[in-house]
Amino acid sequence: MIPQHFIDELLARTDIVEVINARVTLKKQGREYAACCPFHGEKTPSFFVTPAKQFYHCFGCGAHGTAITFLMEHDNLSFPEAVEELARLAGMEVPREHGAGERTEDHRPLYDALEAAAEHYARALRTSPEAVDYLKGRGLSGEIARDFRLGYAPDAWDGLLSVLTPRFEEKLLIEAGLAIRKEGGQTYDRFRARIMFPIRDTRSRVIGFGGRILGQGEPKYLNSPETPVFHKGQQLYGLYEARRTNTRLDRLLVVEGYMDVIALAQHGITHAVATLGTATTREHLERLFRAVPRLVFCFDGDAAGRKAAWRALEQALPVMRDGREAAFLFLPEGEDPDSLVRSAGADGFAALERDAQALTDAFLEGLRERFDDTTREGRARLGTEAARLLREMPEGLLKTQLVNDLARLCGLSPEQFSARTAPSGRPDVPPSGYRSSAPKERPSPRRLDITPVRLALSLLLAEPPLAGQVNDWAFLRGSPIPGAELLAQVIETLKNTPNLTTAALLERWRASDEGRFLLKLAQWRPPRGDDAAPARMLNDAISRLRGMHDEQRATALLEKAARESLSDAEKQELKRLLAARNGADGGGESGS
Ligand code: CTP
Ligand code: MN
Repeated sequence: MIPQHFIDELLARTDIVEVINARVTLKKQGREYAACCPFHGEKTPSFFVTPAKQFYHCFGCGAHGTAITFLMEHDNLSFPEAVEELARLAGMEVPREHGAGERTEDHRPLYDALEAAAEHYARALRTSPEAVDYLKGRGLSGEIARDFRLGYAPDAWDGLLSVLTPRFEEKLLIEAGLAIRKEGGQTYDRFRARIMFPIRDTRSRVIGFGGRILGQGEPKYLNSPETPVFHKGQQLYGLYEARRTNTRLDRLLVVEGYMDVIALAQHGITHAVATLGTATTREHLERLFRAVPRLVFCFDGDAAGRKAAWRALEQALPVMRDGREAAFLFLPEGEDPDSLVRSAGADGFAALERDAQALTDAFLEGLRERFDDTTREGRARLGTEAARLLREMPEGLLKTQLVNDLARLCGLSPEQFSARTAPSGRPDVPPSGYRSSAPKERPSPRRLDITPVRLALSLLLAEPPLAGQVNDWAFLRGSPIPGAELLAQVIETLKNTPNLTTAALLERWRASDEGRFLLKLAQWRPPRGDDAAPARMLNDAISRLRGMHDEQRATALLEKAARESLSDAEKQELKRLLAARNGADGGGESGS
């Protein structure tokens, strides 16, 4: 747990413009900075950074957030990693609150040991002609070996141990997955007589290894076990290298093997990544889609490959938001990307990638293969299965198109079909009229269906210090007016911590429905006018809410009075409310 006050302080000391400009060149444009969006391919800039709010927003793909969000999405970091990175830049130390039973572990010794191992293996490769010959025989240059930090673990039981143990404890090397302890207590190297592939995280740290036997032998590949820093279900081999080589990465090719990634890179195809001997998980997909909007999966052309593709498709559907694309490349029988790029060349391979089958086509084709669509019964079963799969898919144009296609196939109206695909949970509905769907079109307050709550929240997000002038707001607490409770929380937060930036405010609602709602509202710019305009608008909005609240309260009291008698206090309150209502009708004060 990172304490909230630290996040506040960190964001107060961070300049989002500096953070983003180090990764994407920004151009000043009035009070904002613009660039071509790093999260989707585009030729004219629709990505804007607003220093006043410490917030970025893309009008093309809808990406938006704080400096922390940017690092998470752009550098593919977790929340704590992004905070660490910003803290490093700001010269601050991240404090940790220790929850019950939770201890924060310092993984630095593990990273150090893994780094030392990578160095040792790389050194060993340079002095092992048989290993160098093997790599040359597979068409790899010294340059590629260096880029991927390839190494060699010679055939010895303590090659690594003997070099590392003076510096690192055996226990640590075992924890790092580099060594194994036998029953009798003897410790030996995990990797022997293998070409070593260091697996790096997106911050270039070595977190584990894959090792291929030199020539024939079993097992052909050996991977690091799960360790505190290595999680196979999340990591992707080659992602660090792909991002380092391509400043503007817009798609990734997902292949099966280490050698596929490296052979493709050798031929100039530098956007391939591989899972680590596991099937593609939801976490992999989330991570990949945070890095790029388009994924192409490579599979064998045989029945097993088709089956694996269908599994990947099932995993992918739930993350297929509009703006994301997935496609499948089926390789000719008996080929893998490594062999194919060597025979067909980079251009031949690129052509296959371009022709990859779109996920939507693969989905419809896969269903037709599984069910008999020539009978009503078959089409009903096809429809049931399709609806089950689509239920998990986020709402959007892609889903609507699939719904239409499937409805036609099943002889239903799109409405009938989509009734079966509505997500089971609560849909994540953005405030209506506030979608940034059309590129370059700027949302304006007029397009926003602007309720007083939304207006008040937008104004506070644009100018947090305005909260200082709000006096009459206690009524918002527990009010049935939608969003009133959130508005009360925002006002209270700002009153308690007056110097909060918009970004720091947003961070308090990170990853919640309220947070997503606030993020949308934060994109709004208040109209330029005199300096007092925002304060006036805020006061108006809150007075209107007060009016709505009083109206609801008066109605409730009148209804109660019709059923039973009111207490004296309630009678007083009703009298006051009715007087205020009449006063307001006359254009007077709207109460205190
Ligand atoms: N793999 C594994 N363990 C094995 C075999 C394979 O973890 N015993 C994983 C590795 O990540 C490997 C990938 O599956 O990179 C693909 O395996 P395979 O197709 O057998 O090997 P290739 O990538 O073709 O390797 P090579 O060309 O070196 O034979
Ligand atoms: Mn191969």
